[in-house]
Amino acid sequence: MSGQDKIWIFDTTLRDGEQALRASLSHKQKIQLAHAIARLNVDVMEVGFPVSSPGDFESVQSIATQVKGPIICGLARAVSADIEACGQALANAERRRIHTFIATSPLHLQYKLRRTLEQATEQAVAAIQLARRYTDDVEFSCEDAGRTPIDDLCRIVEAAIKAGARTINIPDTVGYTIPNEFARIITDLRNKVPNIDQAILSVHCHNDLGLAVANSITAVQAGARQIECTVNGIGERAGNCSLEEVAMIIKTRPDILPFYTDIKSTEIYRSSHLVSQICHMPIQPNKAIVGENAFAHSSGIHQDGVLKAQNTYEIMSPEQVGIRQNELNLTSRSGRAVIQHRLSEMGYTTEDYNLDEIYQAFVTLADQKGRVFDYDLEALVFFQNLQDTN
Ligand code: KIV
Ligand code: ZN
Repeated sequence: MSGQDKIWIFDTTLRDGEQALRASLSHKQKIQLAHAIARLNVDVMEVGFPVSSPGDFESVQSIATQVKGPIICGLARAVSADIEACGQALANAERRRIHTFIATSPLHLQYKLRRTLEQATEQAVAAIQLARRYTDDVEFSCEDAGRTPIDDLCRIVEAAIKAGARTINIPDTVGYTIPNEFARIITDLRNKVPNIDQAILSVHCHNDLGLAVANSITAVQAGARQIECTVNGIGERAGNCSLEEVAMIIKTRPDILPFYTDIKSTEIYRSSHLVSQICHMPIQPNKAIVGENAFAHSSGIHQDGVLKAQNTYEIMSPEQVGIRQNELNLTSRSGRAVIQHRLSEMGYTTEDYNLDEIYQAFVTLADQKGRVFDYDLEALVFFQNLQDTN
């Protein structure tokens, strides 16, 4: 990895992603997704907004207690009650982060907050100082940074770093910017904010114009070192930057992007299908990296090329994202032992499920579908556990 910079992956599937769902996820669903996201080896996972409801508080608390590995993060507006709730919900985490934010664009300041930039800055500083009583790891976001005049942005960022924020996040909250414009914001912050080197610059791009991934990648080229994203890009409106796309772009193009992430790419396919099933959000067939057609070669010329040399038409291999090519074909003719074997390869022990019941459900599903995939097995285990607790 020498000569390469690490890009921190901050997953917000369980906060910004969940916020966009028609129905909230249950406590149990959130815990299961949190374990799947931790298996991806993200650096930070934002798992809720504790002050928003007792249910959210409780799931942030349970995830902070149970899920090991990534830094566990909660969201808080720049107000005391939010920060206190966040600090309490995260108390049991091995490593915790409080993420506090305030809007900075003239539009939001005038109509939403009815405040001047100076007042918002004072509020942000007080919030960061309070958050630092709970943890050294405080992130500050300038909501709607994409539509904030650069001098205003520089002023509040400088004050936030002075107050103790160690990560400064620049959200394109409404997905309005285009890549060179967004990269310019990062470049300007790096050139104009005197204490900028004391913080990691992060980006949080929404996808309203389909540019969330492109904006995040150009921001990295301009000096950002953390990308905020969600599995399958789920999130408000057109969604957030997609985790699997940025991770695989960085992995596939080291020639032009001298960076790396710690994402375990072989977990991508499995977590993507789990998120899709639990959130009832189907994956479009031509979705990059995880869509059903992402590695399918239909034309004769392409099929012939791939047979002769895989990279003629494939820039990454399906195995890299966790699609098993030579896997056993699971059909209604497969026996119990095969199902048990496959589940153990997927990381389940026999204590995690009841084999007889899973096998019955498997056979019924295989009769309907023909072929059963890993993500189907994952869903069977999940729904069996759900029934057991209801
Ligand atoms: O999109 C946004 O601005 C956000 C912030 C809370 C970071 O989600
Ligand atoms: Zn957002």
